[in-house]
Amino acid sequence: MSEISPVNGAVVHRRPRPRRAALPVVVRELTLEDIPAVFELGQKLFTPEKLPTLYRAWDEDELVQLYTTDRQTCLVAEAGGRVVGFALGQLMEKPRSAWRYGWLEWLGVDRGLKRRGVATRLLRQLTSRFIEREARIMLVDTDERNRAALAFFRKHGFGQEVRHVYLSRNLDSHPEAIARRETLEEPE
Ligand SMILES: CC(C)(COP(=O)(O)OP(=O)(O)OC[C@H]1O[C@@H](n2cnc3c(N)ncnc32)[C@H](O)[C@@H]1OP(=O)(O)O)[C@@H](O)C(=O)NCCC(=O)NCCS
Repeated sequence: MSEISPVNGAVVHRRPRPRRAALPVVVRELTLEDIPAVFELGQKLFTPEKLPTLYRAWDEDELVQLYTTDRQTCLVAEAGGRVVGFALGQLMEKPRSAWRYGWLEWLGVDRGLKRRGVATRLLRQLTSRFIEREARIMLVDTDERNRAALAFFRKHGFGQEVRHVYLSRNLDSHPEAIARRETLEEPE
């Protein structure tokens, strides 16, 4: 593989990455018994600095809520009796829209088993399930620095990217917060 170096314009020869064999996995619906394993895997992947978005947090409540609302679109990939990946999504209807959306909220694969087609299997199965349930658009989102996820989604036909800006304000320095702390600290 050859490409032009952005640094000095020289032709750089890169060896293509050796392709790893696809991992045989069973993709099936998430069960109650899988929740601890999925939670633990997600904790390793969605660390605070790697969270796909600021407005969602990876915690047990989120997982249990998805499991209870839309079990048919919560999938796990199992290999050797172990959960090695998951794709958790739900159907969404927007007010005043005739369209039904399939939203893939969390997708993750064990770090040691990446680039072996596990997420691809999960995504295909989830896509079929969304289609069966008459979703017409599938939505995904991720941090713009998450190059692996972006490459993955683009490879699988996702596009029409819309950028969204999150703003935050630290409320600890707000005068009301300061006053509140002072009141709480006042001796009786
Ligand atoms: C993104 C993620 C789910 C991909 O899982 P995966 O099982 O490794 O993906 P696949 O093996 O099915 O990859 C299919 C294709 O996607 C692209 N791709 C996947 N990971 C990539 C990477 N790190 N860099 C570049 N391209 C990548 C490649 O085109 C790959 O095909 P190839 O290996 O034949 O080149 C995985 O990296 C992950 O769990 N990341 C952390 C969690 C996360 O960011 N989730 C997404 C937001 S919720």
